[in-house]
Amino acid sequence: MKHVERLIVFDTTLRDGEQSPGATLNTQEKLEIARQLARLGVDVIEAGFPYASPGDFEAVQLIARELKGVTICGLARTLPQDIDRCAEALQDAERARIHTFIATSDLHMQYKLRKSREDVLASTQEAVTHACNKLRELRGDRFWEVEFSPEDAGRSDEAFLFQVIETAIRAGATTINIPDTVGYTTPSEFGGLIRRIREHVPNIDQAIISVHCHNDLGLAAANSLEAVKNGARQVECTINGIGERAGNCSLEEIVMTLFVRRPYFNPYFGRPAESEEPLTQIKTTEIYRTSRLVSTHTGMLVQPNKAIVGANAFAHESGIHQDGVLKNKRTYEIMDAESIGLAENHLVLGKLSGRNAFRSRLQELGFFLNETDLNRAFLRFKDLADKKKHVTDWDLEAIVNDEARQVLEAYQLLQVQVSCGDQGLPTATVKILVPQGEELVDAAVGTGPVDAVYKAINRMIQLPNELIEFSVQSVTEGIDALGKVTIRLRHGGKTFTGHGANTDIIVASARAYINALNKLHNALSHPEIMTNQEEIAGQKV
Ligand code: KIV
Ligand code: ZN
Repeated sequence: MKHVERLIVFDTTLRDGEQSPGATLNTQEKLEIARQLARLGVDVIEAGFPYASPGDFEAVQLIARELKGVTICGLARTLPQDIDRCAEALQDAERARIHTFIATSDLHMQYKLRKSREDVLASTQEAVTHACNKLRELRGDRFWEVEFSPEDAGRSDEAFLFQVIETAIRAGATTINIPDTVGYTTPSEFGGLIRRIREHVPNIDQAIISVHCHNDLGLAAANSLEAVKNGARQVECTINGIGERAGNCSLEEIVMTLFVRRPYFNPYFGRPAESEEPLTQIKTTEIYRTSRLVSTHTGMLVQPNKAIVGANAFAHESGIHQDGVLKNKRTYEIMDAESIGLAENHLVLGKLSGRNAFRSRLQELGFFLNETDLNRAFLRFKDLADKKKHVTDWDLEAIVNDEARQVLEAYQLLQVQVSCGDQGLPTATVKILVPQGEELVDAAVGTGPVDAVYKAINRMIQLPNELIEFSVQSVTEGIDALGKVTIRLRHGGKTFTGHGANTDIIVASARAYINALNKLHNALSHPEIMTNQEEIAGQKV
């Protein structure tokens, strides 16, 4: 196996993560997440599946054009049209990788592909060769590489799997990714598979072994770590563990395990246990911020008890634990909140702070706004600073996310007024600006103030939909906190997410609803950019 001295972190939040039910991201959101992943220090960003839709192609191309110092990867089936489209999207990347895959388990080959083992071997050989030729032709001397995945490797016949891997390496693949596609294996089985691949594939020394574990039995991180102990040197993972069904291996769990338990893992990398050199190049202090950004954009909330990034991950409720932590942190804390960037949520700016201080703090947080967006965000900040004593980083992040999104919107919320209480009928009056530039006002009565607001909006923006999720979170602690509303609605089998932040949760709810309706409106106005997984699924791979 190719020698690598540390673990390569391959992030697939924008590809496999985006396949989570309802986690659809637009191009701008993907670009923002990609920038943050680069800041986090991942080695490879799998930015999408360019053949799947023009929207996916555009996002991969934009990310490939902008981000330097990180490898940008696109997914492709073993079909020439997928590979060509993928290579085209990656053409301008500083470092480009095509990831091509085909299923190798009997179950998948027989029922999904309707292909024989010979067919799959031939497709592997042709696809990897084609991907190498295409990248060579388009990129010449600029860096490129090809990764190959035998899908459902965890349930594939081993002798056949070894043959496919050998074929892919001979054709030019330099990373061989072993997916446990349905999260079926256990740690010792999966570790054993990686060991046997190293023992039985004759040319494995010419490739890096990668693993891609799904979390159907909650074993994705354990399986990946066992694979690392057996020689895997790339782990494919997602922020917050999002992904198909129960999700993928979570990036933060792998990275923090290697960080906290470095002396245990060092010898597996051929180092002395006490070596202090990091095992990944991840900047761990960016983990928490990345987790929040992904959660905000995908609308997938992080469960409170989620390892590393859950709201309770560093909270101590019982008296015995609190007492212990006060006496010596290490009694109940195996890592510091600071190590994932959690405790940096300090007071940053006040009522009297000027635009320059505001701009430079935003830049430190990774937000680079143009003048118009900056002005809008600054007004929101001033407004918040008047109402709220302490304005924190998380407040700034909520304001920017809320403001930046509103600018792109066709429908804009101008005013919302409600009357409610335990007597009388909850009533809302809402004023909006519609795409034609006209201002509309309407009023409605509902079961509660939010229902009344949504009914009034529905009377003006007639886009039928089903509201499937509504949640309110407070951005920081305290009664004066900003409220962050996340909603998801469904239309024609597709899910759209909306967010809004305000100290008034009725206003935040209205903003979130308008935000989701704008995404629905955009999708209906540009049906060609929609991902069509049904079409992909219907084609023979
Ligand atoms: O889970 C899987 O098998 C995949 C492959 C495309 C790598 O996502
Ligand atoms: Zn997957």
